[in-house]
Amino acid sequence: MGCLPCAYKVFCLQLLVLYSGSNAKLCSYDQSIALVQFKQLFSFKNISSSYCDGRQQSNPKMLSWNDGTDCCSWDGVTCDMVTGQVIGLDLSCSWLHGSIPSNSSLFLLPYLETLNLGSNDFNSSLISSGFGRLISLTRLNLSNSYFSGQIPSEISQLSKMLSLDLSKNDEVRIESPVWKGLIENLTKLKELVLSEVDMSTIVLDYSLTNLSSSLSYLHLTGCNLIGPIPASLANLPQLTSLSLSYNHFSGHIPSFLSHLKQLYYLNLEQNNLVIHLRDNRFTGSIPSTIFELVNLTSIRLSSNNLSGHIELCMFARLKNLQYLYLSQNRLSVNTTLNANSTFPKLLQLGLSACNISEFPEFLRSQDRLEWLQLSENKIYGRIPNWFWDIGKDTLYNLNLSDNFLTDIPCSFCTAAPIEFIDLSNNSLCGPIPECLVDSITLIWLDLHLNSFNGSIPQISANGSGLVNLILNDNQFEGPLPQSLANCSRLQVLNVANNRIDDTFPHWLAQLPELLVLILRSNKFYGLIGNTDARVIFPKLRILDLSRNEFTGVLPTRYFQNLKAMMRGSNTSTVQVQYMHRFGRYYSAFFTLKGIDVEMNILSIFLVIDFSSNRFEGQIPEVVGKLNLLKMLNFSHNHLTGRIPSSLRNLTVLESLDLSSNRLVGQIPTQLTSLNFLSKLNLSHNQLEGPIPQGPQFNTFQSDSYIGNLGLCGFPLSDKCSNIDDAQEPAPTDTWSWFDWKVAMMGYASGLVIGFSIGYMAFATGRPRWL
Ligand SMILES: *[C@@H]1O[C@H](CO)[C@@H](O)[C@H](O)[C@H]1NC(C)=O
Ligand SMILES: *[C@@H]1O[C@H](CO)[C@@H](O)[C@H](O)[C@H]1NC(C)=O
Ligand SMILES: *[C@@H]1O[C@H](CO)[C@@H](O)[C@H](O)[C@H]1NC(C)=O
Ligand SMILES: *[C@@H]1O[C@H](CO)[C@@H](O)[C@H](O)[C@H]1NC(C)=O
Ligand SMILES: *[C@@H]1O[C@H](CO)[C@@H](O)[C@H](O)[C@H]1NC(C)=O
Ligand SMILES: *[C@@H]1O[C@H](CO)[C@@H](O)[C@H](O)[C@H]1NC(C)=O
Ligand SMILES: *[C@@H]1O[C@H](CO)[C@@H](O)[C@H](O)[C@H]1NC(C)=O
Ligand SMILES: *[C@@H]1O[C@H](CO)[C@@H](O)[C@H](O)[C@H]1NC(C)=O
Ligand SMILES: *[C@@H]1O[C@H](CO)[C@@H](O)[C@H](O)[C@H]1NC(C)=O
Ligand SMILES: *[C@@H]1O[C@H](CO)[C@@H](O)[C@H](O)[C@H]1NC(C)=O
Ligand SMILES: *[C@@H]1O[C@H](CO)[C@@H](O)[C@H](O)[C@H]1NC(C)=O
Ligand SMILES: *[C@@H]1O[C@H](CO)[C@@H](O)[C@H](O)[C@H]1NC(C)=O
Repeated sequence: MGCLPCAYKVFCLQLLVLYSGSNAKLCSYDQSIALVQFKQLFSFKNISSSYCDGRQQSNPKMLSWNDGTDCCSWDGVTCDMVTGQVIGLDLSCSWLHGSIPSNSSLFLLPYLETLNLGSNDFNSSLISSGFGRLISLTRLNLSNSYFSGQIPSEISQLSKMLSLDLSKNDEVRIESPVWKGLIENLTKLKELVLSEVDMSTIVLDYSLTNLSSSLSYLHLTGCNLIGPIPASLANLPQLTSLSLSYNHFSGHIPSFLSHLKQLYYLNLEQNNLVIHLRDNRFTGSIPSTIFELVNLTSIRLSSNNLSGHIELCMFARLKNLQYLYLSQNRLSVNTTLNANSTFPKLLQLGLSACNISEFPEFLRSQDRLEWLQLSENKIYGRIPNWFWDIGKDTLYNLNLSDNFLTDIPCSFCTAAPIEFIDLSNNSLCGPIPECLVDSITLIWLDLHLNSFNGSIPQISANGSGLVNLILNDNQFEGPLPQSLANCSRLQVLNVANNRIDDTFPHWLAQLPELLVLILRSNKFYGLIGNTDARVIFPKLRILDLSRNEFTGVLPTRYFQNLKAMMRGSNTSTVQVQYMHRFGRYYSAFFTLKGIDVEMNILSIFLVIDFSSNRFEGQIPEVVGKLNLLKMLNFSHNHLTGRIPSSLRNLTVLESLDLSSNRLVGQIPTQLTSLNFLSKLNLSHNQLEGPIPQGPQFNTFQSDSYIGNLGLCGFPLSDKCSNIDDAQEPAPTDTWSWFDWKVAMMGYASGLVIGFSIGYMAFATGRPRWL
């Protein structure tokens, strides 16, 4: 029998020689045509695959498909060596933009076994029923590709399927009949990835029983699943990797997990699971369950409702453990190990909000750590010298925020390739250690809410890769270091609430990526002046100069050029490349901060706040060009002249504060067209005449207008003499789509991190757990 394959191979070889000899095409004509037709469905834009960059290169493979050549040699195409049939098509990250109708020639490739169209942009089109015709498919990957609608039932005809990945299409949903068909018919399935597909109508427990028992990889992250963790998972003994994170599972971590002997990855983060661990003893089934899974490399239980006391040493039994996340529960973790026990070498450790009161000693031997979160604990005092040796070749993300730290040792200088460091909300004092901003790898430095003093050090050429520099609420003094102008990737600079003594940093205006500039509450002074520069804050979305000592007229030329605040200019949809690369780090950080920012705060927050300075002169008309502004505050200055009617162009403005100036004339009636205005303060000026009446204006109280002797009409009690004010304000819908107060709290307390992360999710279109 063994001879047969040999004979066959020889035969094939001969065939090949024959083919090449005669220069015949391997690829059949009709399949070649089908591919060419398929290509015609798309245009090619790198932004369609922007998610890929940094993870895997994206490139428009199809553009190299050349009509006259053998299609088997085309990039992304795999043919059967013998028959020449197209059996594989890998067009992931290939810039595709367009949609695939059900009569597409793609579905005329019946021998196709593997098809990857992941990380493209299918323009919110439906997943075609035509996929059901590709009956030879064993692997189908449509992840991360902007499909929408229901998964077609025809998918369940693909009974040879081994691996199905439809994940990260958050407009796609699967409903019960299709789900049922899928798990009954796809009996060979080994990998099923439906993360971020909406499964809210599925009752998981009942149905899982029929899933292929050979399933080894099941990821249902962020699928809106509810109920207890399904017991039927116990019927999947081959499972090696299970993620049910970011759902709404409740109840206990079930004991049957111990049947899943092969499991090495377990992720139950961000659910509502409840466990109570009592008094050093692991009562209940979970811990014993977990500790029987000796092959586990990754346990993620953060952000549930686990409570009680836990001995970290229990995890020492899991010799292969690399990732351990226990953050953000209500746990009290004892990090002291028995003298002799050795702890597995971890790569990532999350112990935020774990009631820890000192730097865990066992970390001394953790020389492979990449990611360490100890925020929101009760760690007091000096950061020990040895601390900087942890993962000194590996550590990139360190979060010690929200503790009671007082000193950074002067020996502080780490060789670690640190990218993110968060020491915020401690009691750290003294100058910033220079080497902190001298790190070639540093991207994100957050020192806000400490007692750092001295001047902000110059950023060396090494440190010029900084993206976020968050220094607010310290006691920094002196000027801003001009070397910040070399940080060409800088996005967020927040120095609010310090004692910085400087003129306006016009030299920051050239920074191509700067989104947020907050100088609030310092000792900045002088004229902002004008500038001849061609590029002026091209991406700026938040400009806060409030509570300083700026003087002179408002900077017309700057207003004319804040492109990101103007509708219709291309720069208002900002692409932020590094976010794709580092999205994962940010999201982890995000989760640990415990800030729930579902929405894209930066898109909501387009802010100009120049309040409480000594600006004078008129409000320039050009402010009306900044028509994406949500908040405009010029209050507490010495502004004169009239309120420009061009403010009516700020059609999405939600808050306008011009109070405590010397503005004269009438309130322009055009302002009544500002339909989103929910906060208006014109008090303490010299305005006169009737208060305009209109939908939003009818909701403002008299305190919006007090201190203006000449104003009359609703809501003031002074009636206007020569105006027909018989009209009662029409009842209006006071519904506001945006809870201003909550958001302002975040803004005021320096949670710009939150903004950036919200923004990142927006920029990538990806939810935060990715
Ligand atoms: C994407 O294309 C645009 C213009 O076509 C270009 O400016 C940009 O650099 C490209 N981005 C990447 C990551 O290639
Ligand atoms: C994407 O969808 C929109 C709306 O359905 C449509 O107008 C547009 O032509 C589509 N673009 C492509 C490239 O298919
Ligand atoms: C598919 O159908 C559309 C109309 O629904 C038609 O315009 C198009 O030519 C068809 N394409 C093919 C490849 O048959
Ligand atoms: C699907 O393709 C993406 C790349 O586009 C890849 O990251 C992912 O791992 C693939 N899924 C499976 C199950 O192989
Ligand atoms: C299951 O597969 C068979 C043949 O492969 C097909 O006839 C049947 O319609 C499929 N069932 C569902 C629910 O799709
Ligand atoms: C599982 O499949 C069997 C037949 O294969 C069927 O009788 C049963 O109803 C299915 N169970 C569920 C939960 O779908
Ligand atoms: C752990 O993994 C090893 C190697 O992969 C395997 O031989 C062993 O059976 C696994 N242990 C259990 C309890 O499944
Ligand atoms: C956490 O569990 C306790 C009971 O153990 C319950 O009272 C509390 O409401 C739960 N919290 C959340 C946020 O679910
Ligand atoms: C936190 O730890 C202290 C001892 O360090 C203990 O007294 C206290 O009960 C713990 N708090 C919780 C909520 O477990
Ligand atoms: C913490 O664990 C160590 C070692 O197991 C033990 O000696 C110590 O008593 C524990 N501390 C508490 C507060 O339980
Ligand atoms: C620790 O190890 C030493 C030598 O390896 C041994 O003598 C001692 O008994 C061990 N102590 C414990 C508590 O196991
Ligand atoms: C305001 O909008 C009007 C009409 O859309 C336009 O003519 C005017 O130039 C705009 N004013 C400013 C300052 O942009």
